Amino acid sequence: MNFSIDPSLPTVRRGDFPADFRWGCATASFQIEGGAHEGGRGESIWDRFSHTPGKVKNGDNGDVACDHYHRWPQDLDLLQSLGANAYRFSIAWPRIQPTGRGAAVQAGLDFYSRLVDGLLERGLQPWVTLYHWDLPQALQDEGGWMSRDSVARFADYTDIVTRALGDRVKHWITHNEPFCTAFLGHQHGVHAPGVKDLGLAMQVHHHLLLSHGRALPVIRANVPGAQAGITLSLHPISPASDSPADVAAAHRHDGGRNRLFLDPLHGRGYPADVIERLGPFAPRVVAGDLDEIARPCDFLGINYYFPEVVADATHDAGHDPLKDPLATRVVEVHGVERTAFGWPVVPEGLTALLTRVARDYAPPPIYITENGSTFDDVMLPDGTVNDSQRLSYLIRHLAAARDALAAGVPLKGYFAWSLLDNFEWAEGYLRRFGITYVDFQTQQRTLKASGHWYRQFCQDTLPPQ
Ligand code: NOJ
Repeated sequence: MNFSIDPSLPTVRRGDFPADFRWGCATASFQIEGGAHEGGRGESIWDRFSHTPGKVKNGDNGDVACDHYHRWPQDLDLLQSLGANAYRFSIAWPRIQPTGRGAAVQAGLDFYSRLVDGLLERGLQPWVTLYHWDLPQALQDEGGWMSRDSVARFADYTDIVTRALGDRVKHWITHNEPFCTAFLGHQHGVHAPGVKDLGLAMQVHHHLLLSHGRALPVIRANVPGAQAGITLSLHPISPASDSPADVAAAHRHDGGRNRLFLDPLHGRGYPADVIERLGPFAPRVVAGDLDEIARPCDFLGINYYFPEVVADATHDAGHDPLKDPLATRVVEVHGVERTAFGWPVVPEGLTALLTRVARDYAPPPIYITENGSTFDDVMLPDGTVNDSQRLSYLIRHLAAARDALAAGVPLKGYFAWSLLDNFEWAEGYLRRFGITYVDFQTQQRTLKASGHWYRQFCQDTLPPQ
C-alpha cells in the first residue's frame, strides 16, 4: 500500500542497530488463540471473568479471538514476511494443565510444539512467556495467586512446559507484567479475577515474584543454554510541580510502580519507604523468599507504554489512606498527544526509562518485550488501513530506543505490541493495538501502514527519507 511519512519524523533504520539485535512482535495466548474448548483446554480466570456480565466492554470474550489456534501457520507466515527474527508468545496454562495441577494434556503440548517448529522453520526465534494472565480457574477456586501454593503449582507447570519445549526454546519469560495481575486483578478488580483488596493484592505480588524466582532453576535444569527473565511494565515518573510534597509523591509512586518490582529482583528487598506506607497491607514474607526472588536473570524484559506525572494526594478531598496508602494522584498533562486509550505519547520517556533502569540496576541485557499504541483504525473502501498515528508512534519509539542504545543501555531487542488486533482485556475488541488489522467477522488479516513500514524497516529496505 502507499503511505506517506511525515517528514518531521526522525529517520530510523534497522542498520542503526547492532546486527544481532532481535526484532519481532509480541502476542499473548488468551488475546489471540480462541479455540477455548479445543484440545482439552480447561477454563481460565479470563474465561470466567469475560463471561461474567459487566466485566468486559460489549460482553466480549476470548472464545474465538483471532482464531490463532487454527490460523497460526498463516500468522507465522505473516511474521516471517515482515523480516522479523523473533516472536514472543505465551502459553495458556489451562491448555497444559486444565485444572492447574496434575498430568499434562498431550494435545496442549503438541499445539505449542508445532508452533515452535513452525517458528524455527521460518527462521523466527521463539520467546515464550509462561504466564500472561490466563490462570486455570480451578486454581483460582483454591485461592489462585493469593495462596502460597500457587508458587509450587507454577513451578510444576514450568517444569512440564520446559521439559517439552526446552530442546528448541531457549528464551523464557516467567511472568508478564506482574503489576497488572496483582493490582488490576486484585486491588482495583478491573482484570480477572476481579478481587478488590489491597492486602491480598500485595500478597499476590509477593507470590508472583516468588514463583518467578522458584521457576528460574527449573528452567535452567531443563533447558540447555537457557536465557530466562521476567517482563515488567515500567513507567518513568515525574512530579507535577517542584513542591517538596509532589516530589515526595513522585518518589512514592515510583516505589509502587517500579521499585516494588525492580528492587527485590535485584537483591535489594522490598523498598522500605513503600513497605512502611503500606503498613498492615505489606506482604507476608517467609525467610528465604527474598533470596529466591533475587536469583539472577539472564535478561530483563521491559514493556513501555507511557510515563506518569504525579501529585501528592494526601490532602485531596475524599482521600482514603486505607485504600491508597501511597497517597498519589496521576495528573493529566494538557496539550500532550494521546492514544485512543488516553495514554500520553512520550517517546523520550522510553529513553529516560531505559537509561534509568540501566543506571540504577545494571541489569543484564534489556529487551523491550512490548511497545505499541491503540487508535481507532478504519479500513478504507480500497481495503487499506492508514494508521498514520501508530506509524508515527512506532518510528519515534524506535528512534528513542536507538538513543538509549547510544547512551550505553545494553538493549538487545524490540518486540512490537502487537502482531494482530486482539482481545484487549477489559476493553474487549474495542481497542486495536495491531500492526495488522483483524476483521473479527471474517478473520481476515490486513497489514496496516505501520505493518508495511515495520516490514521495510525489518528488511532494511526503507526508502531514503
Ligand atoms: C500490556 C499487556 O501485556 C498486554 O497484554 C496488553 O494488551 C498491552 N499492555 C496493551 O494494553
